[in-house]
Amino acid sequence: MLSEKIEEALNNQIRVEAESSQIYLAMACWAEVKGLEGVANFMYAQSDEEREHMLKLVKFVNERGGHAKISQLKAPNITFKSFKEMFEKLFEHEVFVSQSINELVHISLQERDYATHNFLQWYVAEQIEEEAVARTILDKINMIGDDKGGLYLFDRDIENLTVTTAAIDNPE
Ligand SMILES: [Fe+2]
Ligand SMILES: [Fe+2]
Repeated sequence: MLSEKIEEALNNQIRVEAESSQIYLAMACWAEVKGLEGVANFMYAQSDEEREHMLKLVKFVNERGGHAKISQLKAPNITFKSFKEMFEKLFEHEVFVSQSINELVHISLQERDYATHNFLQWYVAEQIEEEAVARTILDKINMIGDDKGGLYLFDRDIENLTVTTAAIDNPE
């Protein structure tokens, strides 16, 4: 059984993940109309992943006797000054999501809800990976600067981007 407090906190995270999915979908569209197909495909995939994160929480809440409440979402930014700005926003957003997960983990301990605490460890590990990916992309974009040729190559390579972190076992 979920306490009222933890149910509310999980529902808040459901909204955060749904908004993440919308934010990345908007980024995918912007990249697509700008002609960067690789970046667009990468962002469409990110958007799908965020929806998976949301659904995992939805199922968990409903299975544990709570009610996952699907809510209104904030409209995302749909245009950006540059790809650099877009990826800065992506990184900032992942840092925000990590903070939100940390807060949720904190509440699960306060509520002595060890089942939820255990469930949330997957999200803790996932955020380490997502922040690492966002940081890697931002480093590359900062290196490229305004170089059109660099952006062309980046667009070609982004779909094959692999990032290894200490927290995740990447099968090589
Ligand atoms: Fe997520
Ligand atoms: Fe994410």
